[in-house]
Amino acid sequence: MDRKKVTKAVIPAAGLGTRMLPIAMGTPKEMLPIVDKPAMQYLVEEAVNAGITDILIITGRGKETIEDYFDFNLDYEKRLSDTGKTKELERIREIAKLANIFFIRQKEAKGLGHAVNCARQFVGNEPFAVLYGDDVIVSKTPAIKQLIDVYEEHGLGVAGVKYVTEEQVQKYCSLKVESIKDNVFRVYDMIEKPSKDKIFSLLSILGRVVLPPEIFDILDETPKGAGGEIQLTDAMRTLTLQQGMMACEFEGTRYDIGSKLGFLIANVEQGLLHPETSDEFRKFLKGLEL
Ligand code: UTP
Repeated sequence: MDRKKVTKAVIPAAGLGTRMLPIAMGTPKEMLPIVDKPAMQYLVEEAVNAGITDILIITGRGKETIEDYFDFNLDYEKRLSDTGKTKELERIREIAKLANIFFIRQKEAKGLGHAVNCARQFVGNEPFAVLYGDDVIVSKTPAIKQLIDVYEEHGLGVAGVKYVTEEQVQKYCSLKVESIKDNVFRVYDMIEKPSKDKIFSLLSILGRVVLPPEIFDILDETPKGAGGEIQLTDAMRTLTLQQGMMACEFEGTRYDIGSKLGFLIANVEQGLLHPETSDEFRKFLKGLEL
């Protein structure tokens, strides 16, 4: 079937990051590094590698470093060029050219659903991708591309899911699904932060969704949910009941950079893979008396 192509992505990055305090007070958690690149660059690169051309980053007060990072930094560039560091200069210039990146502020952190609703004008009447700003996914095929492929086949919104532990599902969300084939599911219901007796399954949405534009009218009507926030999961539940949704168990390793443990795991695993650090870092870790 002929569907509208997914060319736009929204990256919500306006949350308070309370799990990463005190650092989140001075540095947006979305700008925390995995080895030598901020989480946000991983997200932008993932979107670009999936064929996305336009990206809206939802920011808030104190998140200005995100905008600056994707801008040319003429002073810094001049200093690099004066000292003959042309390779480094090229590398940082590329960052600002990755995609058409737009910014809008969510004036109050009223929840992920509220943040996504700030993207209505940018998105217009098209399907779009959402990459949660603190979820980095390292994979062979960009995780969001795996979801876009399912969208293109079924023409319904798609949630990126993985099996999590019973403890984790109560902190994230739980989906009621039917398996369609391999890693693709039809979604029948979902619940945000379920208590133990309300868990549908251990399949949880982890950081990636593709949504149709109808989500915006739904978000307008979505009341505050778990934690007093406007939850994207609640709006996606309504979408599921109205027109259906799919889920895709994506291939890839997901890091929750918004939690201390997730941040540390990301840096250890990726530090072991990075060509500039891998050998020495492995030796260092082996030498640790644990
Ligand atoms: P999280 O729930 O992980 O972010 O939202 P948070 O609220 O900052 O987390 P804690 O609990 O305080 O530590 C996932 C993504 O959605 C963004 C966050 O910045 C994060 O990247 N978000 C969340 C918003 O943009 N606005 C919000 O109101 C809430």
